[in-house]
Amino acid sequence: MPIPEDIVELVRSQADIVEIIGEFVPLRRRGRSYVALCPFHKERTPSFSVSPERGIFKCFGCGKGGNVFTFLMEYHGISFTEAVRMVAHRIGIDIPEQQAQDAPIRSEKEQLYRVLRAATDFFVQQLHSPAGQAARLYLERRGIRKQIIEQFQLGYAPAGWDTLQITLRQQGFSPELLAKAGLVVETEKSTYDRFRHRLIFPIFHSFGQVVGFGARRLREEDTPKYLNSPQTMVYDKSQVLYGLYQARDAIRREQTAVIVEGYMDVLALVQAGIPNVVAACGTALTAQHLRMLKRYAPAIALLYDQDEAGQQAAVRAVELAFATGIDVFVVQLPEGEDPDSFVRRFSVEELRRRIDEAADGLAFLLHHLHRQGRMATPVQQAQAVKYLVEVIAQIPDPLQQDFTIRQLAQHLRFPEARLYQILQQLRRKRRPSAASAATLSSTQPEPTPSADESTDLLPEEETIFRILLRHPEGIASAIGRQIVKEELFISGAARTLFQVLHRRAQPDGEWIHGILQDETIPESIRTLLAGLLVDPETPSDRWRAYEVRIEVDERVAFRDSVRRLQLRRLQQQQEQLKQQLAGADDAEMVRLLQQLQQVREQIAALQQSE
Ligand code: UTP
Ligand code: MN
Repeated sequence: MPIPEDIVELVRSQADIVEIIGEFVPLRRRGRSYVALCPFHKERTPSFSVSPERGIFKCFGCGKGGNVFTFLMEYHGISFTEAVRMVAHRIGIDIPEQQAQDAPIRSEKEQLYRVLRAATDFFVQQLHSPAGQAARLYLERRGIRKQIIEQFQLGYAPAGWDTLQITLRQQGFSPELLAKAGLVVETEKSTYDRFRHRLIFPIFHSFGQVVGFGARRLREEDTPKYLNSPQTMVYDKSQVLYGLYQARDAIRREQTAVIVEGYMDVLALVQAGIPNVVAACGTALTAQHLRMLKRYAPAIALLYDQDEAGQQAAVRAVELAFATGIDVFVVQLPEGEDPDSFVRRFSVEELRRRIDEAADGLAFLLHHLHRQGRMATPVQQAQAVKYLVEVIAQIPDPLQQDFTIRQLAQHLRFPEARLYQILQQLRRKRRPSAASAATLSSTQPEPTPSADESTDLLPEEETIFRILLRHPEGIASAIGRQIVKEELFISGAARTLFQVLHRRAQPDGEWIHGILQDETIPESIRTLLAGLLVDPETPSDRWRAYEVRIEVDERVAFRDSVRRLQLRRLQQQQEQLKQQLAGADDAEMVRLLQQLQQVREQIAALQQSE
């Protein structure tokens, strides 16, 4: 449930945005701002700017911008509340658990995090106790070193039926909470520890909370091989990736996430020196997983087991990657190997080479079809092409789609135009019913962001907003006294921004930050606002030109911009009237000519006042 606004504001105003962002991004001072290479897109010269005075960041390359909370949300893929708590925790502000009647859900999650943390500590401690000997020996046999054991906080769940329960209850956790956390299994007759005599892999949320566990058997005769936490209020396996918390920075650095199938593969690769690796936890890869990874890197490399199941999973993952608009590569291993066994048998250098040379998703699908003997006859070929075009049809970005179609045409030595025809047919067929016979799996395309949702302001509009935003305490009254009106603005973005300011402006306080972190306001408008708020020390020349003029005299610049906007508007009207005149009948013509005359007079008056 929401944290009260005054507390959010307290946290925000106390937080040092430079220090917090600086922890993740190396910031350099430049004038009143700090700059860095943007963490959200790849670039050579820094266009990421942080203004400590405003408490705002903005990237002039990719457009992302906001305040300390939205930075953390974007960077770590966490919710607003989580971001506020993260900052609060850092600066030592205590956010009360029960702040409102409707707080129980929030605090229940908090309680779950706490009990899962306590369970993790218990498992870790057990691993290093006499009881943990079998697990320690097992790890030794698999060649997992101490540093990895610590980094991933591996543990041991003892063999008894209630060891964990007793320990946690002694620490004050309620039986209901243990059940809700998935730590115990409840039957009609009894309640017992879910994980017994197993090696424990804590699963971290991407910002470091433990949300669940994977648990490997230590005896061959136990089944299943892995037991996983059930779905809980804090654990949804379709949204969590094992190892992401540890791999985040490496994924960003390498611009690729290596995806493996198993917990053990993650550990083996990290230990071998490939740190940008994650795995799904006992489930197939989902669109949510990929969307999450896309925030960190533009590409994934699938490093799945070289068996039938692994290759099938890779096919589905490739389909999903196409539908998510993330670049995908598939690494091939010798028959029967998984990544863990491969580094053991060969070497990490050899694995790196294979990752670097991995086939792209489309080449992999073609190869897979060939290997399955599904490309041998014209009938099969026709089917295969329909399937491939269907997969490509899921790509949300039209340009990416075009390039992939071209790629397919080249692979098949088949006319591109024919492929587009198939694409068109599929689209037509898709409209009435969403399903299509050719799909191998049920991937749904992401909604395509509309391309013409422009956030460009006219230069005059930009100047007006910049000046207004330098005096946020005065905006409410400027709007109240009709010094600025919505009709003044011409571009859609300016009008929307004005409406937002109109609704939200307060005579005092930090109301602008309320807008920046309000997810009900379109992101394009929020980043536009952040851009207008950031200090002028930016790489944009166009910008500097404006600021120079503004420094001369704000009031002159403001009036000048208003006047020129009015002029633009009148000139637009003039054009429209002229067009209407061309097709008008006599009666209408008189009316239109009168209007045109008025507009001309207004234009002349404005031009004279210059
Ligand atoms: P694997 O059987 O390939 O396990 O299953 P692994 O991680 O390579 O482990 P080792 O090397 O055999 O010890 C791959 C993944 O599938 C899930 C787990 O997430 C596992 O890591 N899985 C497997 C389960 O959830 N339950 C199972 O019973 C088996
Ligand atoms: Mn495996």
